[in-house]
Amino acid sequence: MLRKILISQLELGMFVHSMEGSWFDHPFWRSRFLLNDREQIEQIVSSDVKRVTIDEARGKKLLLPLEPVEGPKAAEPSARAPKLTRLPELSAVARPRSYLRDVAKPDFNRLTPRERAAEVRKASGTIKRSRAAVMALFEDARLGNTVKSRKLAPLVRQISRSVNIDPTIILNISRMKTKDEYTYLHSVSVCALMVNLARKMGFPEQQMHDIGMAGLLHDVGKTSIPESILSKPGKLDESEWITIRNHPQRGHDILAASEDVSNIALEVCLRHHEKMDGTGYPGGIAADNLSIFTRMSTICDVYDAITSQRSYNTPLSASEALAEMQSWSGHFDQLILRDFVDSLGILPVGTLVRLNHDELAMVIGESSTNYAAPIVRSFRSIESDRDIAPKDIDTGRNKSRKLVAIEEPENWGFTDWPLFSAKLLSMPSAQ
Ligand SMILES: [Fe+2]
Repeated sequence: MLRKILISQLELGMFVHSMEGSWFDHPFWRSRFLLNDREQIEQIVSSDVKRVTIDEARGKKLLLPLEPVEGPKAAEPSARAPKLTRLPELSAVARPRSYLRDVAKPDFNRLTPRERAAEVRKASGTIKRSRAAVMALFEDARLGNTVKSRKLAPLVRQISRSVNIDPTIILNISRMKTKDEYTYLHSVSVCALMVNLARKMGFPEQQMHDIGMAGLLHDVGKTSIPESILSKPGKLDESEWITIRNHPQRGHDILAASEDVSNIALEVCLRHHEKMDGTGYPGGIAADNLSIFTRMSTICDVYDAITSQRSYNTPLSASEALAEMQSWSGHFDQLILRDFVDSLGILPVGTLVRLNHDELAMVIGESSTNYAAPIVRSFRSIESDRDIAPKDIDTGRNKSRKLVAIEEPENWGFTDWPLFSAKLLSMPSAQ
């Protein structure tokens, strides 16, 4: 259970889930951690943070509870702790705790099949109209005209509406884009991804609109890149790279000359290829000077690019893409990336999970029948504490096998989870 408390109520052993206020107001890079050092508490107390949300399933509980906050409910601790017969180093480890995040309870469960079908039809219509509107806007930009972003406002509202009802619907459809549609539907996807992320991060409604519009407009500078470069399958030469690297500035110039473009859209357009470590383009600007909107846009832009069919790549699945992005150091704001993962309700490949049959398993992909249901490879029985023959289970198709918790590998004695998970992935499995 998540519980919001005052910082004066913090105690050693509590698990900090999040802190109130802007993420850069507090001194911790990660907002989720166990308080195991009094100095951590002192740091929080001396910061601007007033309240903290603790996860009582993962740490010490508050004796005099204040307001419970809405959010994912913690799973009951397992009745069975591991028997520790095969992994002696576990004997010193506290009984593993598990927790459920939003991913285990996707929103679309609220829709009946009929309602869902109706929403899919509406989302298809929204995407068609958005594609046409973005094409027209890009054509204006190509001809050297200013762009009329006001015309896109109703579409941003429709995309936001669809995302609010069930983000998987519009994201699923826009992921199916062909190579030819990529440039236009990429803008629609980034709009939907940014609105969805903004909702997860708790932005107010008006700002969510500006953030969505920024997603729709962010690549308008691509109109300055010849099609022969955009769709070139091979390596780009130096002059082609210069043209590519110039598109954020070109886009910014187009938007700056246009009416009714928000500062968020101007900034996202100019900065969406910057990286946290300062190795991006066009400015080579590092974390200190990258706004929260820019950080959100780099994540949404890359995620859609690597999960889409383009002329020069094979698209990654959603869970592969998230795992890949988490492994890149220096590119993204990791805290926002974590919110992004949660906002999609998709578990990255390599996530350790527990199944309802008391088995440990690892996520290896997502179901084709249900975007938010993972395909997992089970490999250990918790009851017998023995490895079992790896078996792939599509939790979208196999309704009797459910994911009940996300587990921390170190709690189960995996001292080198990346190595173990790589080995498990390379093993043959029964279907
Ligand atoms: Fe771009």
